[in-house]
Parts: sequence; C-alpha cells; structure tokens
Amino acid sequence: MNRESYIAVFDSGVGGVSVLRELRALCPGERFYYFGDSANAPYGRKTTDQVRALTLEAGRKLLIDRDCKALVVACNTATAAAITDLRAAYPDRIIVGIEPALKLACDRHPGGTIGIMATDVTLREQKLAALMERVKRDCTVLRVHAPGVVELVEAGKCDSDEAVALMERLLGPHIGQLDALVLGCTHYPFMKKAMRTVLGEGTELLDGGEGTARETRRRLLEAGLLNEGVGELIVENSSGDPEKIALTHRLLASE
Ligand code: DGL
Repeated sequence: MNRESYIAVFDSGVGGVSVLRELRALCPGERFYYFGDSANAPYGRKTTDQVRALTLEAGRKLLIDRDCKALVVACNTATAAAITDLRAAYPDRIIVGIEPALKLACDRHPGGTIGIMATDVTLREQKLAALMERVKRDCTVLRVHAPGVVELVEAGKCDSDEAVALMERLLGPHIGQLDALVLGCTHYPFMKKAMRTVLGEGTELLDGGEGTARETRRRLLEAGLLNEGVGELIVENSSGDPEKIALTHRLLASE
C-alpha cells in the first residue's frame, strides 16, 4: 500500500456523499474513489444476508480489483450487516464503518428524548441495540422508521414538496417531542431542509459523517498513509446511469 493509492468510499447509492464531503474537507489531499451501488438500492429493505453479500462483493472490487488503500463504508446499513466480515477478510487494510451518532446525541442531551431514524436493517440489527445500551444512560431513545426517504434522495428530490410531505408523515407524531434526531442513514442529511420545516429549530439534527471522517484521518495518520497531495475524485455507480453520476456531483456541491 502506498500513500498515493485511492480511498474507497462505498454506499448503497448516492447517500454516502454526505460522508464523502466531510472526508474531502478533512483530507483534501486524498484521492477518493466513490462507489455507489444504486442498481441494488435500497439496501435497507433487504435481508441482512443480502446486504452482507453485496457489501462483501463491493469490498472485494474496491480493495482487490481497484487496490484501494482504505475502505470507508459510508452506509450504516452495510456497516451493521457486514463490517465484521469485511475486517476479517482484509485484516491488513484500513476499514472504517459508520455508526449512528447516538453517543453524541445522548452526551449533548442528558435525560433527553432522542429519535434514531434509520433503515429497517439498521433498526433491527443487534449492533444498534448494543450501541443504545452502551450510550443511552438516562435518555429515552425512540426508533423512527423512514420508508421512502432513500428512494426520494436517489431520485434527486431532496428539495421537493414531496420531501416535506414525506417528512410530515414520518416526523409529524414527534413534533415537540425530540431533543435530537439522529440521522442513522447517510442518505438522510440531504433531507435536512424538509426535516427542519417539519420539526422547527427545537430538535438538533445529528449525523455520523464528520465522526467517520475524523476516524478515517486518524487511522491514515497512524498507518503513515495520509496523502497531502492535490486531491482527486473518481465516481462510479453500478446503475450505469449517467444521471446518477451527475446527481452524486450535485449532492457533493449542495449544502
Ligand atoms: N445509505 C444507507 C445507510 O446509511 C442506506 C440506504 C439504503 O437503504 O440503501 O444506511
């Protein structure tokens, strides 16, 4: 492995861009290879075994075929289903997963009510139950299901009336109830505007993108692999649809 090799950033689709933009801000000299598996999205409604198989296949392609020096699994669902297997398969590579920012939320709102919005796979996996047990202390944590959100982001409709209507449906029952809402899927930060419209300013919206970028930088430094070059980005999408590549770049440039 050498410093100049690419860092692979993987998601089920375009959502991992919310992590990629934090990575690029923190490690501007790195070369990133973003792979979105939109052909198979959404992962969140598949079985855990299906998500594990797709993630291991993407890991093989990125770490073996493309020879990337590190893999950032910028997908909570893929992390929940497959991070242990990935690490076992590639013990000498840097593999960073993302986890919902629940600890941050509980630390910032002691005794508060915290919502965790995530895909079905993430919400039912043992990994989340264990995280909750570890960090919640005296907080109340509510699981918030979010059917349809990933599909809207994949369709490039984050700023639409449809997005606000969907958020009204999903978050309406929680208005005035939540001190923080943890966005436990990397697609969701692109819906923040619609969430704000529904929840107002009283609920803090938190995601794990920045924490994942910090951990990646720490691991690269530790391994002597941090590249302080000119930076580069390659985007690939399994759908083969040029519109997905354009959407990836639009989301990267968005707020
Ligand atoms: N972006 C993925 C995550 O962070 C999930 C999207 C999907 O369901 O495909 O969980």
